[in-house]
Amino acid sequence: MELNIALLPGDGIGPEVVDQAVKVVDAVAEKFGHQIKWASGLTGAAAIDAVGDPYPESTHKICMAADAVLFGAIGHPRYDNDPKAPVRPEQGLLKMRKKLGLFANVRPTFTFPSLIDNSPLKRERIEGTDLIILRELTGGIYFGERGRKDNGDTAFDTCTYTREEVKRLAKLGFEMAMNRRKKLCCVDKANVLESSRLWRETVQDMETDFPEVEVSYEFVDAVAMRLVQWPSSYDVLITENLFGDILTDEASVISGSMGLMPSASIGVHTSLFEPIHGSYPQAAGKDIANPLATVLSAAMMLEDAFDLKDEASLIRAVTNQSLAEGIVTEDLAGKSKAYKTSEVGDWLAAQVRAWEIIAS
Ligand code: IPM
Ligand code: MN
Repeated sequence: MELNIALLPGDGIGPEVVDQAVKVVDAVAEKFGHQIKWASGLTGAAAIDAVGDPYPESTHKICMAADAVLFGAIGHPRYDNDPKAPVRPEQGLLKMRKKLGLFANVRPTFTFPSLIDNSPLKRERIEGTDLIILRELTGGIYFGERGRKDNGDTAFDTCTYTREEVKRLAKLGFEMAMNRRKKLCCVDKANVLESSRLWRETVQDMETDFPEVEVSYEFVDAVAMRLVQWPSSYDVLITENLFGDILTDEASVISGSMGLMPSASIGVHTSLFEPIHGSYPQAAGKDIANPLATVLSAAMMLEDAFDLKDEASLIRAVTNQSLAEGIVTEDLAGKSKAYKTSEVGDWLAAQVRAWEIIAS
């Protein structure tokens, strides 16, 4: 089949890790007889430098014309300590989410048996962890009414949700739970916030449509605690934008494999796939960043956006093989030889080409 994929490498290590995913996907396409058309666009600081806009219209057109988007990372340290910068790379991310209607951010947390001791948590706590946080991505306080008053001495940001916004996110959560262990946790702060009460009420009303799903309602502060105490007890968690932002960062360290975790943002117009890590500017241009999270994001893209399950499985298989054989970057190498970002990508692509049992 023909796959039209928009490629947004972004800033920092983004371009390096995205390059490796392209190598691997190209190798898979060759093996399975697919034609891939990659179309690159500028985002983030790279786009500010080039055209003064972190998500320019030209990039938006490329994304709208594509079947899926593969994204690296954005962010540049020169903006971090400058609260008055007129345009920031992160604004590009928010604009992109809104314009592409990327309403659901899917972040899985699972363990890799060979890496379990990298986790800051004890093995017995995390073994068997396999959860998904489904974060609402285009509403809430991130996009609410905001401003200053009293000559700038008072600032406000408001959290607004409509029933429809909650419904479409929750529906996805219920459907995911149905394909997994049939457990759904609605994370909110309904003891305090009106918007959380709307979330809870809406999800409660949907329960009858999914009678097989066991639904729990938990306050976000308690979930923050239980996530590190008993992560394996969760299956699918749904939550609003800001709670999800915080909890997904917390969840990312559970498995000890931050450099390996992929994510998807499901949208109205298209879907976007990206590693959960950031632009890691200290490593930019050094060919040392771990490309596996981006490679696994590409696998997620093939499976979710194109329904290419065998192709995705092959990518996951060679990724596991690289971990098992120690063909890894310095973050995972320990005392063994560390491979370069590009070497890991070359190795994975070569393994894909050499793989014998396919499409069985
Ligand atoms: C994320 C990031 C973004 C967010 C920032 C960079 C705007 O932290 O993707 O989680 O808060 O959503
Ligand atoms: Mn975040």
